[in-house]
Amino acid sequence: MTVKVAVLASGRGSNFRALLESIKGGRCDAQIRVLITNNPDAQAISVAKEAGIAVETVQRNDFADRPAMDDRIKSLLDKYGADLVVLAGYMLLLKGKRLLEAYRHRIINIHPALLPSFPGVDAQKQAFDYGAKVSGLTIHFVDESLDAGPIIYQEALDISGCRSAEEVAKKILAREHEAYAKVVDSFSKGSYAVEGRRVRYVPRG
Ligand code: GAR
Repeated sequence: MTVKVAVLASGRGSNFRALLESIKGGRCDAQIRVLITNNPDAQAISVAKEAGIAVETVQRNDFADRPAMDDRIKSLLDKYGADLVVLAGYMLLLKGKRLLEAYRHRIINIHPALLPSFPGVDAQKQAFDYGAKVSGLTIHFVDESLDAGPIIYQEALDISGCRSAEEVAKKILAREHEAYAKVVDSFSKGSYAVEGRRVRYVPRG
């Protein structure tokens, strides 16, 4: 069954665009209902507009604290009827207890490294500067921790031939675009792997 998705993004939006293209091409059975962003200058906004997708901007400065900001995000997710929340370069940690509890195992994130290695920002540069020969991408459920929720999917990539952090980022990003759509599509099939177990995915009413 078609997965109703809300995308959260802060920047360029290439993963968001790739997801839209996979849906259009029939490779991912999902419908994106809304883009939520914390950044009014995010390029992701033009991606949404081009595709006729609703945009909601939720800015940190408009709220007393981060849990209050996340409460607003939760009410938008409820309003747009999201089954699955896809973080695509959303660069703020989710800190709202109510949001995390209501959407537990329904929020996923993509990270450009093999977690638990190189969490946080600039993961590709961290890997390059460390001299790692292998890095990759991780798609995981989001919980209270930083880049450390249960892993859904990982892919390792040989980066030993990369001459800069930018080259590493480019190599990983190309695979992110394919992998994220596949994982979102797996939710439409009714089950997903979490912590080594197969779990049935049940859409919200
Ligand atoms: C992607 O590489 C994504 O993995 C990364 O931000 C980039 C967003 O690119 N996310 C993180 O680092 C999360 N910790 P995009 O806006 O072009 O999709």
